[in-house]
Order: sequence, then C-alpha cells, then structure tokens
Amino acid sequence: MSLSSPTVLDRPLTCLFEDPGLPAYRVPQALIELYGGSIGFPELCLYANFVASIDGIVALEQRDRSGTVISGGSAADRFVMGLLRACAEAVVVAGGTFRATPNHRWIADHIFPALADAFGRIRHDLKRAAQPTLVVVSARGDIDTRHPPLEGPSLVLTTREGEARLRGRVPNSCKIRALSEGQPSVVSVIDAVRAEGFRTVLTEGGPSFLGQLVAEQLLDELFLTVAPRLVDPALEGSRKSLVEAADVLGRVGADGRLLSLRRHRSYLFLRYRLGEVDGHE
Ligand SMILES: NC(=O)c1ccc[n+]([C@@H]2O[C@H](COP(=O)([O-])OP(=O)(O)OC[C@H]3O[C@@H](n4cnc5c(N)ncnc54)[C@H](OP(=O)(O)O)[C@@H]3O)[C@@H](O)[C@H]2O)c1
Repeated sequence: MSLSSPTVLDRPLTCLFEDPGLPAYRVPQALIELYGGSIGFPELCLYANFVASIDGIVALEQRDRSGTVISGGSAADRFVMGLLRACAEAVVVAGGTFRATPNHRWIADHIFPALADAFGRIRHDLKRAAQPTLVVVSARGDIDTRHPPLEGPSLVLTTREGEARLRGRVPNSCKIRALSEGQPSVVSVIDAVRAEGFRTVLTEGGPSFLGQLVAEQLLDELFLTVAPRLVDPALEGSRKSLVEAADVLGRVGADGRLLSLRRHRSYLFLRYRLGEVDGHE
C-alpha cells in the first residue's frame, strides 16, 4: 500500500504527545505510519469519538450528517474513525444519531474503504468478529428498520413499547432487547451491552446520549477531533455541544487527562482519559 496514494492520506498524522503507558495492539505497519504510532485499549473500555468545531459544536439542528459538515469530510478524521471502529467489539449509537445518518454503516470499511484490509488485520489479530456489532439505543423504538446497518450484526436496546413496535420488522441479523417500561437508565443500557460480552466498546453518540454517559461516569476515554472552523449560529439554528443537557461540570467523570495529541494539517486529534485529573497549577 502506498501511503502517498490520494485514496489513503496525503500525509501521516503527526504525533505531538503520547502517554508512554498506553496499551498497544499489534497493528499493521501501514497504519502505524499513518497514525504516527500504535493504538490499543484496556480490555474493559468504553470510548467515544466525536468531531467538534473550534467552538465546541458537534451537531447542527436540521442538518443530516452534522459530523461530516463539521469535519469538512476530512480524510484524516475518517481515517481515525476507521481505526477506532476497527478496534471495537461493538459500536453504540443513540436513536437521534441513527435517524440523522441514513444509510451510514458504523464499520471501519464504510468510512475508509481504502484501508479495509489493514483494519481487518487488526480485528483478526485481536480475534474480534469480522465487524463490530452495531448497538442502537432507542427508548421509543422509532428507527427505520430498512436502514442498511441493521442487515449486519446489530442489537436494538429499547423499552417494552419499543420492542412491540419493532418486533417482526427487523432483519434476522438484528436482535431486540427490551430493558424496561419507561426510558431505561444509561447504566442499564451499558450493563446490557456488557451482558452481550462486549468489553471494548466505542460510542459515536450523539451528544444527548454522551451527556448521560459522562454524568454517570461510564465513559472511560474520549477521542475528539477539533476541526478548524467556527459555526455561525445564525446560519445553523440551534446547535449542540459535546455533552448536551447534562450538568456535568465538576463531576469526577467530566475531568480528563490528556493521553495523546496528534495533528493533520489544521485538524487536532485529542485523546483523553476521563475521571482522572493531572493536578492543577
Ligand atoms: N459531531 C459528531 O461527531 C457527531 C457524532 C454523533 C452524532 N452527531 C450529531 O448529533 C445529532 C444527534 O444527537 P442528539 O443529541 O440529538 O441525539 P442522540 O444522543 O444521538 O439520541 C438521542 C436519542 O437516543 C435515545 N436515547 C438516549 N438516551 C437513552 C436511554 N437512556 N435509553 C433509551 N434511549 C435513549 C432516544 O431515542 P428515541 O427518541 O428513539 O427514544 C433519544 O431521543 C445528529 O445531528 C448527529 O449528526 C454528531
């Protein structure tokens, strides 16, 4: 594979800082060169990946595919998304994100097809299934059951009402689990993900769901791409920041310690461990 191929990346990410104690999977050399190092996770880890504008906006109301609009379609951001999906046993998305992203597939090959083989090697060496299981979290069960990702390994976590709404309408590849009568707590959602045997788990949102995870101190790591743009509120209407509608300031799980910092052109790629502080000056 040629790293200079325009279908891959025009240049590698530059690693500006990395905590020396991070786990490192066996990763194909081409990916190590592009990422500027290896990647790995503690065995039990829930990690999130988001892209935000410089002013911290992650979602644009009345806009499908907010992430793509904010990231500007950055190839480096798509590469990191692919790498993080390649490491995960399951990818969790909440109902709002599922509805906002029609026809998306939450697998590495979909977001960065040119590196599908290399991503597949990571999974093979980790003895992971060929693709991560998609977990959709929807209390109402209000999801389009013709959505292509449900044709791969998938699971919907919902309420008894949502289960009744979806039963018989999803493909055989998709399981449905009712967790409660009313909206389940985010703790019970993550317990249900763990009960399926998934230990290394990625969540790609959205912000309302992420806010609950942070408030309950369930999120171990946050990968955040800062895209080099500001968002004009007058143009975009109401917008959402990373942890929406969650009063997390001052909570233990809302403070982070920087684990790594990378750069590609004017994009920054941050990795934090949450619930740990580095001390203050
Ligand atoms: N910039 C980025 O990286 C990024 C990443 C992800 C998403 N986004 C954007 O974020 C927006 C969507 O985010 P959002 O905050 O509006 O919605 P969201 O967090 O994706 O989804 C909220 C929905 O998830 C379900 N839900 C949440 N907590 C639940 C719980 N404890 N139990 C059961 N169901 C639960 C409910 O679904 P039901 O209503 O179905 O019951 C709720 O309405 C989209 O515009 C998307 O493009 C951006």
